[in-house]
Amino acid sequence: MPHRQFDALANDGFREDPYPVLAAMREHHPVYALSPGLIESWHIFRYDDVRHVLLSPDLFSSDRSLQGSGDIADANLGFLFNNMISATGDKHRRLRMIGNRVFMAKAIESFRPAVQKVVDERMAFALGVDTFDLVEDFAAEITVAMICAVLGLPRSDMPMIRKWTAVLGENSGAVTWLPEIDPATVETGRRAGIEMTDYFRKFLSERRSKGHEGDLLTAFETVEVEGQRLTEDEVLSMAMLLLLAGNETTTNLITNFVRLLDAFPEQAHLLRRGDLPVSGAVEETLRMRNSIRNVDRFALQDVTMHGQTIPKGALVVVWLTAANCDPAVFDDPDSFRPDRQPNRHLAFGQGAHMCLGSALARMETQIAADAILSRTARIDLPEPPHLGRNANFDNVTRQIARFSPCR
Ligand code: HEM
Repeated sequence: MPHRQFDALANDGFREDPYPVLAAMREHHPVYALSPGLIESWHIFRYDDVRHVLLSPDLFSSDRSLQGSGDIADANLGFLFNNMISATGDKHRRLRMIGNRVFMAKAIESFRPAVQKVVDERMAFALGVDTFDLVEDFAAEITVAMICAVLGLPRSDMPMIRKWTAVLGENSGAVTWLPEIDPATVETGRRAGIEMTDYFRKFLSERRSKGHEGDLLTAFETVEVEGQRLTEDEVLSMAMLLLLAGNETTTNLITNFVRLLDAFPEQAHLLRRGDLPVSGAVEETLRMRNSIRNVDRFALQDVTMHGQTIPKGALVVVWLTAANCDPAVFDDPDSFRPDRQPNRHLAFGQGAHMCLGSALARMETQIAADAILSRTARIDLPEPPHLGRNANFDNVTRQIARFSPCR
């Protein structure tokens, strides 16, 4: 009875190892209505169905304002979604064009030396101590430094940024699963929203007074969409999304890459020898241990899939993690195969809202992966990981590691 275990937040087993349950759901319940939570949600598991939902904006909208406002939106960090991730149609296209200028692969290349520098710094640190926390002392140091560089924020604000990031990891989407609203979850979400909004309001006003022009945030402030500028809330929301999306997801990706090396020593050996491609190992990490396990949409009309009718207005949760292990698309999906070709995983989503930061995330992880493989003889993870509370993410909050240098 796999669906009985499909109650992600309330079930520690699912959070730690969702794969058997997701596999059973994919096979036996490809479209599944779950209603122990505050909001009834419809879950989609098969690769083709996930793509169909993400590629049909006329049937399934990304407009998160459809979930309403108030406590649920506060707990779910609604302030993060008042921007391009929720925008539709022409408004989305205009905002995306601005984002693309900074985040397209060619533009991101200019950050390569800076990424290399911070990776070198962290490798020197990791090789110079006995054990360290792979999450905070290594991966997050790289990703926060880079998103600060992209947005022009001081790196000294990192502790605050990581504090807000932890709220993202705990809250986002979590309410879907709760049987009743938890006032503490609402309160932490609301407080993080206020703190981050104040931080960026001050940052943008100082920037304006210094006459900064032509950077990403200024471009969002001045763009006109349907004859109107974005509201201040929309600009602030975009900055907050970039800050949090830009560090949490890639921190998990780098961490999960190391965890997979540990779990698959034979492939790690071949990667070290140069017999398997490192870029392929990064893609396999995205496929098998993607930070973002699912994304949400709202049904714009009644939609029938596999004989089940998803009602108009329903919250639809597509499971990227389940799609990425669908045996109909990936041979031997539970094996880590860096030479897998093709590897059309959906880790970055699909369609109009496909991840804006994918080139940056790939570059950071690839540089970190190259450095780890070429400068360590072995890696040990002497303690089990600490996992985040929110089953929507493959989120490790602490992982003690030891990097042994090459002789
Ligand atoms: C491993 C790293 C990452 C993963 C797995 C990831 C995953 C995703 C996914 C699945 C979406 C689609 C959401 C949807 O369809 O509702 C998305 C969108 C987005 N991501 Fe990422 N992301 C990563 C890194 C980044 C980075 C580094 C940034 C920016 C600095 C970023 C910024 C964004 C933005 C702005 C969107 C919204 C795009 C739009 O609506 O057009 N992401 N990401």
